[in-house]
Amino acid sequence: IESRHRLRGGWQMAPYACQRRTPLLHSNQPLTEALETLAEEAGFSGSEGRSLAFTRAASVLKALPGRLSTLEELGPLPGIGEHSRRVIQDVLEDGVCAEVERVKLSERYQTMKLFTKIFGVGVRTASRWYQEGLRTLVDLQERGTKLTRQQQAGLRHYDDLNTPVERGEAESISRAVQGAVQRCLPGTSVTLAGGFRRGKPHGHDVDLLLTHPEAGREAGLLSRVVSWLDSQDLILYQHSQENSYALQEGPEPPGGRDVMDRFERCFSIFRLEVQGGPGAARGWKAVRVDLVVAPISQFPFALLGWTGSRHFERELRRFASHERKMVLNSHALYDSRRVWQLWAYVGTWG
Ligand code: GTP
Ligand code: MN
Ligand code: MN
Repeated sequence: IESRHRLRGGWQMAPYACQRRTPLLHSNQPLTEALETLAEEAGFSGSEGRSLAFTRAASVLKALPGRLSTLEELGPLPGIGEHSRRVIQDVLEDGVCAEVERVKLSERYQTMKLFTKIFGVGVRTASRWYQEGLRTLVDLQERGTKLTRQQQAGLRHYDDLNTPVERGEAESISRAVQGAVQRCLPGTSVTLAGGFRRGKPHGHDVDLLLTHPEAGREAGLLSRVVSWLDSQDLILYQHSQENSYALQEGPEPPGGRDVMDRFERCFSIFRLEVQGGPGAARGWKAVRVDLVVAPISQFPFALLGWTGSRHFERELRRFASHERKMVLNSHALYDSRRVWQLWAYVGTWG
């Protein structure tokens, strides 16, 4: 499916990001950085559509086989709109894009970035705080801003959680969890997903997927694993969520673009012993860890869904729906037309 041949008048490229090879290192870093800054800023303003447009344009550039030197080389590539072209042209001609530089210097962007980097703070909360005149982390404390338990933990470990997690650290946490599951339920497998599974050398957290080869055995596993880790003083914060899949009446309706899945999961902060790096003096560092439990029958979909990137997943689901009339999520892949027939049937008979 992949097509990256250089043609006269531009590059040719498959329209969906999930059809393209997107290497970790690519040759158009300054361009993608500029576009991703604008994508982030659009997200901060609640303009999801605009944010997606910039993300798409950046994704196309990441798949180019070489460094872009003129806008003409791009040709009529899919997914790069007017605005993105203007940004690309500015960066190619002047090395920077004035609009992007303005955004980076703006008080709103900087404050939104500062606040959304707190674990548990999303765009809505950050935006409200900004509106209320809050600008710094100290402001949050001094003005007695009401924080959730999660945000309190996020603030307490702000520096650690915004220091990249190295692969070695991710592997060490993975081993600790492995040890815990062997105690609680031997045979359970622990798989490192997220950015590390894509080969990234560092990440913002550690995503671990748990499953057991015998269906049903995984029930109740997470709370036992978390309790054991906690008893070993490995956990600084945790917040678990039950599996809500069984509570559903039927499969998600086609087009239901729910990014959240329904697996039992635990959003946590681990206390990782370290020898070097920022936490060296203390001897430990706080690391964000996501633990997700999938029944074996759904494991392939869970693994696919939790490997990312976010944009790759979005495009994969869009491809399934638009090109195959199928629904893909972290639980299953199915024919959307058949499901609607089933739903109509269930609806008729109450
Ligand atoms: P870094 O952690 O920054 O290295 O990047 P990452 O790609 O690992 O990002 P993140 O940990 O946020 O998410 C990893 C993958 O899991 C992404 O593809 C997300 O789309 C996916 N993911 C995160 N949260 C959820 C969720 O609640 N449900 C589902 N289905 N997927 C999720
Ligand atoms: Mn991750
Ligand atoms: Mn994660």
